Amino acid sequence: MKIHILGSGVMATAMAYGLKNAKFEVVIVGRNKDKLELLSNDFETCEYGSKFDITGKNLILAVKPYALKSVCSLLEGEANSCVSVLARTSLEDVKTNLKAKNIAICLPNIAAEFNSSITPFMSQGDTKIIEEILNGFGKCVKFETKNELDAASVVAGCAPAYLAVVAEALANAVVREGVKKDDASKLVSGLFDGFAKLLEASHPALIKEAVCSPAGTTIEGVAKLEECGVRNAFFEAVKASCNKQRS
Ligand SMILES: NC(=O)c1ccc[n+]([C@@H]2O[C@H](COP(=O)([O-])OP(=O)(O)OC[C@H]3O[C@@H](n4cnc5c(N)ncnc54)[C@H](OP(=O)(O)O)[C@@H]3O)[C@@H](O)[C@H]2O)c1
Repeated sequence: MKIHILGSGVMATAMAYGLKNAKFEVVIVGRNKDKLELLSNDFETCEYGSKFDITGKNLILAVKPYALKSVCSLLEGEANSCVSVLARTSLEDVKTNLKAKNIAICLPNIAAEFNSSITPFMSQGDTKIIEEILNGFGKCVKFETKNELDAASVVAGCAPAYLAVVAEALANAVVREGVKKDDASKLVSGLFDGFAKLLEASHPALIKEAVCSPAGTTIEGVAKLEECGVRNAFFEAVKASCNKQRS
């Protein structure tokens, strides 16, 4: 399938590489000649020009949310599909600004580059084509209400930053205990790799139970995390991001 990605920033390029890996034909459409020149080593690129014809095309909209109106004012015709990745932007916002037979709003994350984004979405029209596109850079989960989508988007879009804090904290903590910086990074990266596989096969509570032996070393650490309120910190972080997402 041929996909036109409107935008050439961080999220646009992450999805472009993922889709290319999955054998999609990717065209990056942008306004910045220098950025497009760089990307032209890996992708077909083009500028919007004074008008850009979207008739029959499959689009991914990946500009900043405030740019929705100005970018859409350049678009002519009716696209076959349009997937918007714009935060804090509703299906209605997209439909008001652009014509497409099948429309979705979603929040991917930058693991899209490695075909590993988990992408929550809401759609109108043919869900199959939307899923085919979103599965091109990872996995996707469909939601029916904006309220659910906003909360799900925090896990998919914001939680990579939360987990980056966890990963950095773990690495720093073992450096404090005498492990070299590079070894600490390798250990933490290996931990996340292995943990992803465990999580696919089991529930977090069961993983925790399996690792904590009675009066052992792990339960001491878990008790300290609880004492420091780490669980509540995550509840508060998700609430804060959800509030912002819904504002
Ligand atoms: N980064 C993430 O982790 C993430 C996750 C989920 C969703 N998103 C969403 O993805 C979208 C892009 O975010 P990003 O992180 O990729 O930002 P970014 O790296 O700053 O890229 C923004 C893109 O929007 C383009 N743009 C901005 N204003 C424009 C305008 N008036 N006309 C045409 N193009 C315009 C920029 O073009 P120039 O290069 O020419 O300035 C650039 O290509 C946002 O809507 C964001 O909500 C991002």
